[in-house]
Amino acid sequence: MERPLRHLALLLGLLAWAAAAATGAAAQPACEPSNLATQITLFCMPDMPTAPCCEPVVASVDLGGGVPCLCRVAAQPQLVLARLNASHLLALYTACGGLRTGGAHLAAACQ
Ligand SMILES: *[C@@H]1O[C@H](CO)[C@@H](O)[C@H](O)[C@H]1NC(C)=O
Repeated sequence: MERPLRHLALLLGLLAWAAAAATGAAAQPACEPSNLATQITLFCMPDMPTAPCCEPVVASVDLGGGVPCLCRVAAQPQLVLARLNASHLLALYTACGGLRTGGAHLAAACQ
C-alpha cells in the first residue's frame, strides 16, 4: 500500500511543479501600455531622462517586447495629452542608456 501512495505523491508533486512553472511563464513581464504611459506621463519630460522616467521607458522596450511596445505606449491618450510622442520616448530610451541601439530607424517602426 505504501508504494502506490508514494508514486501518487510524486506524481502530484510533479504536477504542482509543472503548474507553478506554467504560471510563472504566463506571469512574464508583458507590454502594459496604459500602466507604462501613466508612469511616463507622471515622470517624463522631453529630453529629461531622470531615473523615475527612465524606469518605465526602458521597461517598455526591454521588458515589454521591444520597440512595438514603446509605440503602443506612445499611442496612449495620456501621453498624447502630455505631448510626448514616439520620437521623445525613443530619445529618452537612448538617453537612459537603453540597450537596443538604432533609435533613429526605430522611430519609423511606429509609423
Ligand atoms: C514628436 O513631436 C516633435 C515636436 O514636438 C516632432 O518634431 C516629431 O516629429 C514628433 N514625432 C512623431 C513621431 O510624431
